[in-house]
Amino acid sequence: MPEENVRVAVRVRPFNRRERERNSTLIIDMNGATTEITDPAGNDEPRKFTFDYSFWSHDGSKEQADGYYGPDTSHPNGKKFADQKKVYNELGVAVLKNAWEGYNSTLFAYGQTGSGKSWSVVGYGINKGIVPMFCDDVFKQIEAKKAEGDKTEFEITFSMLEIYNEQVRDLLSSTARKGGLKVRQHPKLGFYAEGLQIVPVSDYADIERRMEEGTQNRTVASTKMNATSSRAHTIVGITFIQKFQNAAGEDTTKSAITNLVDLAGSERADSTGATGDRLKEGAAINQSLSCLGNVIAALADRSSGKNTRVPYRDSVLTKLLKNALGGNSKTIMIAALSPADINFDETLSTLRYADRAKQIKNSTSVNEDPTEQLIRELQEENEKLKAMLKSGNLEMVAGEDDDDDLTDEERAQIKAELEDQYKSILDKNAQEMEDMKKSFEDKLKEAELKGGGGSTDFAAIAEKKKTVPHLSNLNLDPQLSGHITHFVEGPETCVGSEGDIMFKGPSVVAKHAMIREEGGKYTIEPCEMTNRLVQNGKAVVAKQPLSHNDRLIFGTTQYYVFVNPKERDASKQKYPEVTFEMAQEEVAKKSGFDMSGENKSREDALLQEDMLEIMPAVEEANAISQELDKKMKFESMIVSPEARGEQTGRTEVMIKATNIETKHEWIWPKVKFMNRKYVMQEMYNDFLDGDDPWELPPEKDPFIDDINAEFHIGSVKIWLQSTAYMIAMKEQLDVIDFRGYEVGKINIELVPCNKSGKEYAEDEVFVEDTSELVGKELYFKLKLENAMGLPSRFTDLYAKYIFNLEQKPYETKKMANTINPQWNLNQVHGFAKVTTEDITFLQEGAIMLQVWGKQKPPKEKKTVNTKDALIKGAMTKGQSHNVNTNNKKVDPEKVKYMMKCAMLEKQNQHLEQKLVAMKRMLEEANKHKKKKLTVQLIHKIYHAPSNDAAEKCIALIPQEKDDSSSDSSSSSSSSSSSSSDEENKGKNKDAKKKKKPSSKSKRSKSPKATHPPKEKENEKKAVSKQTSNAIKNQNKSSSCVLL
Ligand SMILES: Nc1ncnc2c1ncn2[C@@H]1O[C@H](COP(=O)(O)OP(=O)(O)O)[C@@H](O)[C@H]1O
Ligand SMILES: [Mg+2]
Repeated sequence: MPEENVRVAVRVRPFNRRERERNSTLIIDMNGATTEITDPAGNDEPRKFTFDYSFWSHDGSKEQADGYYGPDTSHPNGKKFADQKKVYNELGVAVLKNAWEGYNSTLFAYGQTGSGKSWSVVGYGINKGIVPMFCDDVFKQIEAKKAEGDKTEFEITFSMLEIYNEQVRDLLSSTARKGGLKVRQHPKLGFYAEGLQIVPVSDYADIERRMEEGTQNRTVASTKMNATSSRAHTIVGITFIQKFQNAAGEDTTKSAITNLVDLAGSERADSTGATGDRLKEGAAINQSLSCLGNVIAALADRSSGKNTRVPYRDSVLTKLLKNALGGNSKTIMIAALSPADINFDETLSTLRYADRAKQIKNSTSVNEDPTEQLIRELQEENEKLKAMLKSGNLEMVAGEDDDDDLTDEERAQIKAELEDQYKSILDKNAQEMEDMKKSFEDKLKEAELKGGGGSTDFAAIAEKKKTVPHLSNLNLDPQLSGHITHFVEGPETCVGSEGDIMFKGPSVVAKHAMIREEGGKYTIEPCEMTNRLVQNGKAVVAKQPLSHNDRLIFGTTQYYVFVNPKERDASKQKYPEVTFEMAQEEVAKKSGFDMSGENKSREDALLQEDMLEIMPAVEEANAISQELDKKMKFESMIVSPEARGEQTGRTEVMIKATNIETKHEWIWPKVKFMNRKYVMQEMYNDFLDGDDPWELPPEKDPFIDDINAEFHIGSVKIWLQSTAYMIAMKEQLDVIDFRGYEVGKINIELVPCNKSGKEYAEDEVFVEDTSELVGKELYFKLKLENAMGLPSRFTDLYAKYIFNLEQKPYETKKMANTINPQWNLNQVHGFAKVTTEDITFLQEGAIMLQVWGKQKPPKEKKTVNTKDALIKGAMTKGQSHNVNTNNKKVDPEKVKYMMKCAMLEKQNQHLEQKLVAMKRMLEEANKHKKKKLTVQLIHKIYHAPSNDAAEKCIALIPQEKDDSSSDSSSSSSSSSSSSSDEENKGKNKDAKKKKKPSSKSKRSKSPKATHPPKEKENEKKAVSKQTSNAIKNQNKSSSCVLL
């Protein structure tokens, strides 16, 4: 069989609205087959990749009158621009050619959510993607063949499925089967979804209807669980069968299966942040995608000659794509790239993924056999299966090489499933045989009788939408917006779970809101004041006019736009196209969150994206908690790395989950919360569907977290600058929690010491110029005495930290039943041979000490109702969204400032003492009319650790000999003449370092008086960067005393 590599295409989309608003930087460039990506943060060279196809769709296009994005010849990149037609011509046409020749093909789109996968695969409106163009072309080419007088019989079938959370859902069926379709393994066909509808289609319009039906079913499922679509994989399957007589006059069947796969957003493959969550459901959501990554890696390994096991069986997606990836299929992958700087990490990872995929080789063969033979084979196969079932002697269906290393347990499990499977295969084979014998016309007729094209008359609805006011759904996935239409007819229309317009969702009540029409004007009002209804981002409590293009949110998940064709057509206004994002943004804005795009750093932009995702999710989780009375309350908070007890990283959104009865709290990273939220949604849907029981056991309940889990109470940043000067420090520092509030104090000391921990009197070792330390040893002891006043709801209190680049954390002992744990940790840190990098670390770095504990069991459990508690909470806060944006209650930089000031004060004391000693030395020398002093003595006086010690040396001045020539032990100055100039020269040569301190100490005096007001100012500003810069500047200009 000929081998063929997986072909890989990359495509980069235009900036979206938000990216434009933020003046995003373009990080992708394409030249010929090369794609370059530039790290916006780094100075590294751009990274280069080459692919089989490179589609530049970023700029160089123009929207034509009909809405189609074609090349703009006047633009410098007009020639480079790849429109939908070009992409189809290069990728789709080849796939179609394969189908004609009888090869299976698979085309899949990979990339993060919003990168343009669906744009390429399905397309939007007139900008049709590969699937509709492919379908259109198939029928055109068939017609052309027929017109030429070709006697071949052509059959086309269509199927559409979705994989979400490892469940297969038939999108052509409006009734979802619980647990999804089973995935079976057929000896010849490989894996297939049992019972999936594979419908015959007669023309393009037929396919279009089927696709719309599938998309609508997806939308309905997705509105129940908003945002699921980005986590789902969609596979459109098109089978093309040609029946003709071969050269030998035999009836022959040539078949080709084409799979077009729109994968889930790749960002979900990364589950960091959810690690350690005992709830596995969250991880299952990514299972298919991460497994696809493993399969691709293994296949790439195999192509390079390694004998690696390919883990197809690990997920539903890889089972169904097994043929596409490692079997008989010509495969194309489109990697969709986001062009903006904020997506650098994701885009780079997409490029790497694509780079790996291109190494995979597949063996392909034409599926062409005499029909008789096919039928015979199926018959024989069935006879065999029947015999095996009868005898009970079951054998593995496909003993393939990748199954070699199955464990006994896996083997047993597979065996147990076999019987079931055999029956299923028997049915499938029988069905196939029957199908082969039937004419295509008959099959089409049958499908028609079953309600072909679905029960919905899409054309009629489209027509009615032109004149009748309606609510049109908005979905986070733009691909799913506008697929649900509720017409608003008559003077009064009630919306609610039991209304004229009917839908369910968290916080949607039976009679939720009322839309009224009077003289062509519309109004809307909630049926009860407490019903959650949001219009254009604002909560509605009383009757409001309802205008065309108004955004409406019912409950927390039902987003709609009101379309009033008459009003729209009569108005001169150009209405903007409403998107889900827009509706979300205006809610965020109205609750006081800064949604402007201007002057946003990459970090701020990422934070903004996170907030947009989190805010509605928190509302939804609270609404579900309330309806299911789960006693949990969720709040979002913005947390700086310092408040998380980390030294690096960006400011992130985290979720505080509180049990309103026990008052236990958990702080969840965003990913953990989002994963759990999906499980909450599923739980809620089971509740809505009346499933009994909808409750999950505690270990699976997304509302329950481990109360024995350790809780990160707060952190303290300990700056190390004093250690670079070998100065001892003793400080009481604030412990701050995630929100930036002080939750206790901690007493620490940093004391210079030797390697074995023997403490120095700092005056023995104090250095003025840190460069003196390079090459020498430097050790200090971190004494963590105790903490005081930690919150009483914790026990088993301990602290931990990591020093510098070390991996292993240092931990104190755990102290129970106290709020003032006495830890008495003494830990020596340091360097045997200090480098300049070490000095820089000590001067600018810090130790991030984290305080941990366990939550105590509640003393008494008050029974509260979730709804009452949440409503009460919202009232006191005055709004339903409460984002804790005000997190800098304690400015972590202030600690740095305090420690530096204390350190500088000490440093200054040292220098002043030296100055005094020098003055005293001169006085004494004058008094005793000494013209010369030995360097030795000056050295002793200068380095005397205290005033007393200095005085002791000064007392030796009278004994100094003016005629120093006799002093053989004295240094260079002793041999010089008596001129003071010469003497100074000698001193300079020998004791260069000594010059510095005197000048430093002089400088240090004057700013002492002038700086304190500045300090206050800085404190007030609480802007960390400014503060630290101010300190740096002060440091540079002098070593002043500030306090
Ligand atoms: N090549 C393109 N030209 C214009 N708009 C695009 C292009 N690719 C994507 N978009 C737009 O970007 C948004 C996200 O694209 P989509 O294909 O839905 O992403 P995904 O399926 O990867 O989540 C959509 O609004 C879509 O219209
Ligand atoms: Mg999509």
